[in-house]
Amino acid sequence: MDYKVKDLKLAPQGAKKIEWAERHMPVLMGLRDEYSKTKPLKGIKIAGCLHVTKETAVLVRTFRAAGAEMAWCGCNPLSTQDDVAAALAREEIPVFAWRNNHDDYYWCIEQVLKTEPNVTLDDGADLVFTLHQKMPELMEGVIGGTEETTTGVVRIRAMEKDGKLRYPIIASNDAVTKCDFDNIYGTGQSTFDGIFRSSTLLIAGKTVVVAGYGHVGVGIARRAKGLGGDIVVTEVDPIKALQARMDGFRVMSMEQAAPIGDLFITATGNKHVITLKHMRKMKDGTILANSGHFNVEIDVEALEKHAKSKKEVRPNNVCYDLDSKHIFLLAEGRLVNLAAAEGHSPEVMDMSFANQFLAVLRIVQEHKSMEPKVYSVSREQDERIARIKLRSMGIKIDELTEEQEDYLSSWDEGT
Ligand SMILES: NC(=O)c1ccc[n+]([C@@H]2O[C@H](COP(=O)([O-])OP(=O)(O)OC[C@H]3O[C@@H](n4cnc5c(N)ncnc54)[C@H](O)[C@@H]3O)[C@@H](O)[C@H]2O)c1
Repeated sequence: MDYKVKDLKLAPQGAKKIEWAERHMPVLMGLRDEYSKTKPLKGIKIAGCLHVTKETAVLVRTFRAAGAEMAWCGCNPLSTQDDVAAALAREEIPVFAWRNNHDDYYWCIEQVLKTEPNVTLDDGADLVFTLHQKMPELMEGVIGGTEETTTGVVRIRAMEKDGKLRYPIIASNDAVTKCDFDNIYGTGQSTFDGIFRSSTLLIAGKTVVVAGYGHVGVGIARRAKGLGGDIVVTEVDPIKALQARMDGFRVMSMEQAAPIGDLFITATGNKHVITLKHMRKMKDGTILANSGHFNVEIDVEALEKHAKSKKEVRPNNVCYDLDSKHIFLLAEGRLVNLAAAEGHSPEVMDMSFANQFLAVLRIVQEHKSMEPKVYSVSREQDERIARIKLRSMGIKIDELTEEQEDYLSSWDEGT
């Protein structure tokens, strides 16, 4: 078996981490139990390009239990947990992933694609992009794919609009049990995990500027408030900006926020939200972090070019001397929760990856009637996952009575 990881000797430590995650992912483990008997993915080869974390490993093991073959790589050069990658390689999964694979990032994706997959499972659409642009000859056997994150969904929708998308892709990200939980609660918490590990600083008493008040931004702003921060939100969408204000946060432009923030966190999925012009206005000691998918939200290139010097002050924390002020950039401006910490908690990835598993199952069962476009997750799938999750938490909810169902579908009953 072909694979490339940092050090296979790390495998026992990785296996322990995976087992810890398994204890906290009851929905996915339930699906594993159910589908390991019937093996509906037998004969299916999956190409996975998704952060190699302990939670991802639980998904990989679940696919295998359901009969699939796989090859896997990371979707960010800094997010691979080397011990987990080693554990997967030891379990004979062809893994091409190690932390700091900046120079070989696309090489890893290409190795995974060379296994001639039937299904692509992507996080950010780099694998789908590479397949369409560089290796289209390998598309023949592909029946469909799934996409894990907002940025990837934006990219594949753009491909669909341009008539370039060549097979159906289910936008797992847009499942309610994914984006309203993983993006909000998962990123809200793990972003601070990354900031704490790389800076160790207190949030209480700091002005925290959150760029973007979508799913991720809302989660980050809520957690920052809970930690005692004074929150400022920047937005381009007037409705989101209004929501942020009515949630009790100050709202202003990045230009206005630049000189007052102590900590900036970008979460927009957009490019150059913090530019050199903004950085030049910032206070001495300002900290910059990003939780959006790609490292383009903060203009790191400009910072690198114009800073007089730079020095690593802690792991994942580099101090730049810009106009004789110190600007601290966490995790190279890459997603701080995965590059400087371990990513989301298993409890929340449980639902995200249950969505991924069921989406792949749907591709296998329904691909013949699907077109090369972006598909949503069904309401039934969302409800199924939410019900199992609630059950695992010991929570009972009410059911509509017949009378209530009639009432909700009628129009002639008033006061
Ligand atoms: N770090 C993680 O683990 C993680 C998890 C989930 C999603 N993500 C990524 O986070 C990013 C945001 O995802 P989301 O689900 O919140 O998306 P979203 O579409 O719900 O929200 C993005 C928000 O950013 C705003 N925005 C866009 N350009 C802006 C600008 N120039 N200035 C200020 N605001 C701007 C938009 O108006 C929108 O409200 C994406 O890149 C996504 O892939 C990361």
